[in-house]
Formats: sequence, structure tokens, C-alpha cells
Amino acid sequence: MPAGGFVVGDGQKAYPGKLTPFVLFTCIVAAMGGLIFGYDIGISGGVTSMPSFLRRFFPSVYRKQQEDASTNQYCQYDSPTLTLFTSSLYLAALISSLVASTVTRKFGRRLSMLFGGILFCAGALVNGFAKHVWMLIVGRILLGFGIGFANQSVPLYLSEMAPYKYRGALNIGFQLSITIGILVAEVLNYFFAKIKGGWGWRLSLGGAVVPALIITLGSLVLPDTPNSMIERGQHEEAKTKLRRIRGVDDVSQEFDDLVAASKESQSIEHPWGNLLRRKYRPHLTMAIMIPLFQQLTGINVIMFYAPVLFNTIGFTTDASLMSAVVTGSVNVAATLVSIYGVDRWGRRFLFLEGGTQMLICQAVVAACIGAKFGVDGTPGELPKWYAIVVVTFICIYVAGFAWSWGPLGWLVPSEIFPLEIRSAAQSITVSVNMIFTFIIAQIFLTMLCHLKFGLFLVFAFFVVVMSIFIYIFLPETKGIPIEEMGQVWRSHWYWSRFVEDGEYGNGVEMGKNQGTKHV
Ligand code: BGC
Repeated sequence: MPAGGFVVGDGQKAYPGKLTPFVLFTCIVAAMGGLIFGYDIGISGGVTSMPSFLRRFFPSVYRKQQEDASTNQYCQYDSPTLTLFTSSLYLAALISSLVASTVTRKFGRRLSMLFGGILFCAGALVNGFAKHVWMLIVGRILLGFGIGFANQSVPLYLSEMAPYKYRGALNIGFQLSITIGILVAEVLNYFFAKIKGGWGWRLSLGGAVVPALIITLGSLVLPDTPNSMIERGQHEEAKTKLRRIRGVDDVSQEFDDLVAASKESQSIEHPWGNLLRRKYRPHLTMAIMIPLFQQLTGINVIMFYAPVLFNTIGFTTDASLMSAVVTGSVNVAATLVSIYGVDRWGRRFLFLEGGTQMLICQAVVAACIGAKFGVDGTPGELPKWYAIVVVTFICIYVAGFAWSWGPLGWLVPSEIFPLEIRSAAQSITVSVNMIFTFIIAQIFLTMLCHLKFGLFLVFAFFVVVMSIFIYIFLPETKGIPIEEMGQVWRSHWYWSRFVEDGEYGNGVEMGKNQGTKHV
């Protein structure tokens, strides 16, 4: 038996270690990588509804907006360049997250974070000083490269640093910082849009240097993870660091397990090919379906285009941005609920409750918009109560997402993959997320133009499909030690046929709750 021993008895290993101030500090700093992602999500929608920004870079959209409100409201934002501006970032992020996996593996997690911060900073500057559309697009591609690096490395960093007992909360901490980034950006948009002279959008876009500098400086002061040091052969430094992180002297069991896990993982020559083996079918299915469904909830329609959407349904620019601030606050608050509930009520409950909540809201919003705008998109007078109903249901929808598919879309994949396929499977999860974020951002405005209020029914349909999927196929993972996860598939009525007894040798599963090796 390799060093460190393997899962024994009831399977739960209890490594000594506390939630030390040191580990808290490093995790809070690292989690700020989520801030740059969130800031960007929140800023784009607000900026693309600022008239001065549209007049300068997207004059055709601006003109349509200025025309009589009796023209078709669904199509006023339908511009390929405007869409390219928003969605170019996700393609760039997808590409760079693949590159980042090599940097992260060979040179450590913090170098990827540093690259993430610097690239994001460069993108923010290009955007803030932009004079032409091409500069905006180049800036967004740089931001996307930054996000790809940060999103690839930060979650790994957090899960490797965190004591295993607190890893769930710290993982959702990353999602929390995404939602805080979104909210801060929305608040700033609200005020910058009011600046006389119409150059507020420069502050909104250029303001991204602040979260970028935080993560850049943070990565310079953070230590690398013990896992990464072991991976690069620095065993002694890793052991010293592990003692400091855990706040105890005796870390030998965990240390030996990390070394064993690293060896085990390095012996896998083709992690990608390995993924296609029959016994990993449940994992591969979840790695693809969970991020896919997360995006098919339609959440980013609200996140990117909330002000545009509110504008479309009859709000002024100012009221639109204010409503986006309200939805942003609901997003943060509801994420806290999921931190509280995820280990009490379980993942399945949250998924199914959140799904039902989103479904009802989508149906109501579709009905409201359909009733007022009809099929031709001409609203007439919009009463106040109408606006309140729409915003209220959009908020209830956002809350439903923020305590279900939002955090769980990242948490569940990260806790179900066995070590030997974890890094490859995690890359698939990230890539699928980025591709579908891109696709939704790319086609939303055109879909709004063509499907009109029916667009919300399309997302509602997918919410039904994903809830049925969870009900039938996702086993409950609450309270299951990560290294024991194999049992949830073995005892599942459907997945058991792929996963045979003994498939999950204890040795192979060892070390998973410590973050382990990633490629
Ligand atoms: C999703 C993002 C989304 C955000 C909203 C994240 O989990 O991956 O696409 O914009 O939540 O809070």
C-alpha cells in the first residue's frame, strides 16, 4: 500500500487542521479572482444600454432606440457587432482556460492567477481608452484571456488550500465573489451613466483595473499550494507550507496522501482518453450536462442584458439600471442562502426547488410581456404595476438560480469526479460553461427579436428538462465523503450498470478531498 494509507472503515479520513487565519486570508484573496469575472458580467449589460456609448460605437442601435416607441421593441438591440462585443470575451476565455491548464500544472497556480490579473488589467485599459469598435473588441478579448486564466486556476487553488471540512463553503465563496462583482459593477454603472458629457462608460469599462489589480497583487503575495509544489518536486517546501496552512505540526498523513495522489495521477498518461471509458460515463455525463443546463436556465440573459431587457419592456435607461442593481442584490443575498443550506437540505432539494421557482417566474414574465407587447412588439402605455410585477418575478427567478444552479453548477461537478479523471473532467465542465455562455450571449438579442416573449418559454422548457434530469439521474452527494463518492453511482438504479463493484479502488480515490493533482 502506498504511503499515507487509504480509505478505511467508514471511509472518512480526518486530517488534523484548523481554519487558520492564514488559510482564510489566502482563500479570501484568491476568491477575488471571481470578482473580475463578476465585474465583467455586470458591467457589459449596463454599458450597452448607455445612450452615449451606443451613439459612439453602435450608431444603428442608437438610432433604432431613438425612433418612435411604437416600432418593434423586441428588435431594437439586434445588432451583430453589439453581440460580438458582449460574447467575444467568452470565446477568448474558453481558449485561454485550455492554455492555462498547462501553465497551472507546470508553473503553479499563482502564476496563472498573475497572468489572469495582468491580461484583465490590459483589457480594462484598452476598453477604458477605446476610440473605435475594434479596440473594444480587442479589449474584451484580453479580458476574456484574463478570465480564462483566473477561472482555471482560482477554483483549483481554493480547493487545494481549504481544509477538507470547509471546502464546500469556500467553493461557494468563489460564486459569492462572482455575484459581488456583478453587483458592484451594476451599482457603478448606475452612477456612471449619470455623468454629464456621456463619458461614464469609460469609467465603467476602465474600472475593471481595480479588481484586476487586486488579483494581480494578491497572486504576488499568495503562497503556492502544497499540491502544486509536490507536483513540481518541491517536497520539503510543500511540507513546511502545509504545516503553516493547517496550523498543526503533524501533517504527515495528509502530506503522504498528497504525494501518493500526485503519483497516482501522474501515472495516467491519457486523461482525456481515460474519460471515455465506460466506468466514467456518469461523470462524463455530469461534466457536460450540469454546465450546459446551468446556462440553459437563461440566467445570463438577465446578467448581461438586464438593463437592455428592462429598457425593451418600457423602462427608461435610469430605471433599467436601477432594476439591474436590485436583481444583483438578490443574487448576492440568495447565494448566502445556498451557503447556509447546501449541506443541510442537500443538492437535489436545492436543484429541484430552484428549478420549480425559475419555471413559474419564466411563465409569468413571458405572460406579462406577451400581454403587453403582443406579437408585433408595440407596447402602448405601460402602467406602473406592470413594471413592478415584471421586476418582482425576475428577482424571484434570480433568487431561484442563485441558490441552485448558480453555485451547484460548479460545486457538484467538482465533488463527483474521481482523482484520475478530475482535471480532465473539470476542464470539460469549464469549457462547456464558456461555450454555452458564448452561444446564449451570441444569439439572445436575435432570439428576442424573432421569438419575442416566447424566448422566455424556451428557457422555461429547458428548466423542465433539467429538473427531470436531476430528479432521475443525479444522486444526492450531501454528506458523502468525497473519496467515498463511488458508492453513490454503484447504488444508483441507472448508473450502477456502468460502475461495477470494485471499480473504485480505495487507492485510486485517495486524496481527493485535498484537491489533488490537476492537469
Ligand atoms: C455562472 C455565470 C452567471 C453567474 C451569475 C455563475 O455560476 O457560471 O454564467 O453569470 O453565476 O451569478
